[in-house]
Formats: sequence, C-alpha cells, structure tokens
Amino acid sequence: MTFPLTELDDAAGDVDRDHGVDAVEALEAEPVDAAPPAPAAPEDVEVLLSHTAERRSGPRPPAGRIITVVSPKGGAGKTTVATNLAVGLARRAPGMTALLDLDLTFGDVASALLLDPKHGIGQVARAARALDDAAVKMLLTQHPTGLHVLCAPDDPVEGDDVAPEDVASVVDLLGADLPYVVIDTGAGMDEPTLLAVERSTDLVLVGAMDVPSLLGLRKAIDVLDRLGMTSARRHLVLNRADSRVGLEVADVESTLGLEVAVSIPSSRSIPLSVNQGRPIIETDWKSPAGRALQELVDRFAEVPTTRTGGFGWLRRSAR
Ligand SMILES: Nc1ncnc2c1ncn2[C@@H]1O[C@H](COP(=O)(O)OP(=O)(O)OP(=O)(O)O)[C@@H](O)[C@H]1O
Ligand SMILES: [Mg+2]
Repeated sequence: MTFPLTELDDAAGDVDRDHGVDAVEALEAEPVDAAPPAPAAPEDVEVLLSHTAERRSGPRPPAGRIITVVSPKGGAGKTTVATNLAVGLARRAPGMTALLDLDLTFGDVASALLLDPKHGIGQVARAARALDDAAVKMLLTQHPTGLHVLCAPDDPVEGDDVAPEDVASVVDLLGADLPYVVIDTGAGMDEPTLLAVERSTDLVLVGAMDVPSLLGLRKAIDVLDRLGMTSARRHLVLNRADSRVGLEVADVESTLGLEVAVSIPSSRSIPLSVNQGRPIIETDWKSPAGRALQELVDRFAEVPTTRTGGFGWLRRSAR
C-alpha cells in the first residue's frame, strides 16, 4: 500500500503517534516467518536470480530514482560515494531521499554518518510484513540533513537473518514514495545486491585506476548483461583517480565500454570526514574530491517538481 504523501503531511501528528505504537508492537512481536531462505552459492548468480524471480511478487514502479552503488571489490569507495551522494541529494531536497545500507554483514553507513539507529534493516524488514508503509517509515533513522537512513544490522550474524524478499519489499516501499533512494552495497554481487540492482533506475559502478579493479568491474558488467539487467543507467565513478599510475582514462573507458561520469582524486579529507562522521560534501566540498562528489550529485539532482511531499512529517531542517 502506498500512503498518499499529502495525507502524511496533513496528518503529521496523528500518523506519527498512532503508527509509532503499532511499529513498536510489531517489533516486539515474534517474526511472522523468521526462517531465512535456503542459502544459494554466491558464485552462481543465475541460480540466485531465478530463485528471487520465483519468490517476489513483482516490484512496484519506482516514484523516482533508485540509485545502487556497486563494486566487485571491497574498499573501492562504495560507502564514500553512497553517503556523499545521499547527503548531497538530501541537502537539495530535505525529506525526499533515503539511504539504505545493504552491506548486511559489515555495513558502516551508521558510523560514516554518526548515527545511532534504534532499528536496523533486520527489524524494519520484518516489520514490513506486518505494518503499513507509513509505520515502517517511522522506523527509519533521521540524519540532520533530512536524509532518511536504514542502517545495516549492528551484529553481522543478524544480517544473515534478513530474508532477501524482505530486502526487496523495503526497496520497493521506499522507492514507491521517495524521489531518491540511494543504496550502498557490500563487495561483490550477493543476492540482496542483485535484488536492488534489478529494481534500480541507476547504477553507480565504483572502480579504481588499477588493473585488478577494472577487470573485476568488467566481469561484473558482463554478469549484469548476461542476466539481462541492462535497464538501469550506468554511471562509472573512478575513485582515487590519480594521474601517473600507468593507466589513462581512455584505457578505462575502452576496457569497460563506459564513459567516466566522475573522477574522484585521492584525498586525506575523505578518511578524515569518515572519522568525524560527516561526509566531505558537507565538510570540505570545495576540495577537488568534494567537488567531484558534488558533480555526481548534480547528475541526479533535478529538484522534483511533480512531487511535493517526501515524508514531510519526518522532515528535519537542513544543516
Ligand atoms: N578518494 C579517496 N581518497 C582517500 N581515501 C579514500 C577515498 N575513497 C575512499 N577512501 C577511504 O578508503 C576506505 C574505503 O572506502 P569505503 O569504505 O568507501 O569503501 P567500500 O567500497 O565501501 O568498502 P567495503 O567494500 O569494505 O564496504 C575508507 O577508509 C575511505 O575513507
Ligand atoms: Mg562499504
């Protein structure tokens, strides 16, 4: 069910109170069906996909952009890109962007944004079975910019209990109401990531200027093509894109068959900003790395004119 945005705005106080109670009750209740699906071999993405296709009832059409940030390699810069992109979009349109941490085992969006979530994706996904959309949204964590965040479980073991079909429901639910949903993912292409990719309007592929990283990305692109996941627009982000490393941008583009959308140079400000829990797009946006991330935001940020709400009743003032 999609909750009408105008009703949410108009009935802010009542909706807040009423659904808050339902949400807490649902979280305290036993899961309706806590058994996770049988695990499939991670390497066999085609088997995984056929399983997910059987399980899901069909994604709801997204209201705006669902932007999934992927890379086959760990440490490529996915969380850096996802958090900065989401915060950048939220600053332009507070209340209209959600960030979902789909790195279910080692997700670190919460620490990168200095958040202390009361509920993680495990609880929210479970609640999604029992509650309506408005109540589920009450469980998201609010960032001061007006970004709605759904963090990964604190405990990596809990990540195993998150059923892929629940991940799909949460993506559908957020995507059906919000102009922007940004999704951070773990390294590789696990089942939750493929479910997100399948529902995405845009993919941000993060790679570094080194041969192993580019070969990994090439393979990931081939897998997506083989699976027919070609509808999302692809945006190539080169991270730590420094000169004099023996590769040229033209080499990268011809290897991947994609134009580089944005190049982010190495910058000390990035780990510094992560350690402070404030993205560089807020703390040092004038630096070359900050400007590059701003450029990425610009690719997506047309302030929506047809939608007026977002979750206005959860909106906070921008920093
Ligand atoms: N352009 C950059 N310059 C300097 N440091 C960077 C840059 N991009 C990312 N980093 C640092 O590299 C580390 C890994 O980045 P990040 O966490 O964004 O990668 P990831 O792809 O999300 O990793 P994982 O696969 O573990 O989730 C972080 O400490 C981050 O601060
Ligand atoms: Mg990460």
